[in-house]
Amino acid sequence: MLEGKRILLGVTGGIAAYKSVEIVSRLRKSGAEVDVVMTDSATEFVSPLTFRSISARPVYTKMFTEPKTWDIEHISLAQRADAVLVAPATANILAKMALGIADDFLSTVLLAVNAPILLAPAMNHAMYHHPATQKNLEILKGRRVHFIGPDQGFQACGTEGDGRMSEPAEIIAYLEGLFENKGIMKGQKVLVTAGGTREPLDPVRYIGNFSSGKMGYAVAQAFAEAGAQVTLVSAPADLSVPTGVKVLRVITAEDMYREVLKIYEEQDIVIKAAAVADYRPAILNKQKMKKKGESLILELVPNPDILAALGKGKRHQFLVGFAAETENILKNGLGKMKKKNTDMLVVNDVTASGAGFGTDTNIVSFLFKDGKRKDLPIMSKHQIARQMVQEIAILQNGAGTKE
Ligand code: PMT
Repeated sequence: MLEGKRILLGVTGGIAAYKSVEIVSRLRKSGAEVDVVMTDSATEFVSPLTFRSISARPVYTKMFTEPKTWDIEHISLAQRADAVLVAPATANILAKMALGIADDFLSTVLLAVNAPILLAPAMNHAMYHHPATQKNLEILKGRRVHFIGPDQGFQACGTEGDGRMSEPAEIIAYLEGLFENKGIMKGQKVLVTAGGTREPLDPVRYIGNFSSGKMGYAVAQAFAEAGAQVTLVSAPADLSVPTGVKVLRVITAEDMYREVLKIYEEQDIVIKAAAVADYRPAILNKQKMKKKGESLILELVPNPDILAALGKGKRHQFLVGFAAETENILKNGLGKMKKKNTDMLVVNDVTASGAGFGTDTNIVSFLFKDGKRKDLPIMSKHQIARQMVQEIAILQNGAGTKE
């Protein structure tokens, strides 16, 4: 995917800068040509010589040093890039990008770039959650800048939380995704559902499930990367909304049913990755239910089956369901596809290790209406999502044109 691509890597001043050396190495192994631009602070963490040796190209640090070519360097670097990655991206560079400040080589290049930009933020947990940083992220997402991470975990400053830069392999996979399906879903309106619905019992309790939303969010991201206009109807999920995706937040299955039905008519493709509760409590108590000491029997009533309703009302839409199975995986999946009238069904055995709820990976089979089946090995939810984009584009025969 990256063979022959020109990647501009911006490195800013964070301890994660050492991981960017591995990024350059991986990019080169994939056949990409990498130009590295470092901020002054970044050079305090890793020497430009390290990046020069790994990239086998000059490294750019200062605006006014003797030029290495006769071009205006920051402009020519910006123009020749097929994609730009800033890793690590500090709170400072996010703020400068959001405001359009160009006071050093990297921030100046970033203002002149037309290629897709991917940022891998890395900073202290508190800095990441500061309202100023969050606002800057929002502004940049609005400009279709892509983000990966930050991840959760132990931080160099000794605290735990989100703020760690994503791993090099994940960053490379995201970059590949920017090229893989570019433009093949252009002009398509896609609706994706994600997360697990919550069915309240009273003001403090609900019946829920283990869906994290990762699968559905990956699907939304993959379609957006492929140029589609994506609406994500999301049940509660602690994930950031992918760049360029419009999100409608819901809580219960009934909320999801209403939101999805409202915009169904205008969609070209609908993908139901959400784990929707089949039942909800018959009574929603206005006050917190009191503990009574004896066992408690709850009466549940069925929720609307959203996918089945979509299948019933299907006209031009390409409808994709997911099936979370624990036994007779394929047989049950095929049954659901027929019953809910979908064009494609993604089945996953949610008891398999590395598959199903909460994991970053999944093991799925694609089932198609014509009886064909495609079994995928374990792979990241993002990779699965990109394969879905490709399969659906092929089935739609000419949905968009590859750029
Ligand atoms: O979110 P993650 O942690 O990443 O986990 C991913 C996942 C396991 C949730 C995902 O891969 C998955 O399998 N999603 C479908 C879960 C599910 O509800 O499966 P189901 O077999 O119960 O339902 C079949 C289909 O009908 C699904 O598309 C579901 O969205 C839909 N459905 C189900 C019930 C209902 N009342 N309305 C529906 O629309």
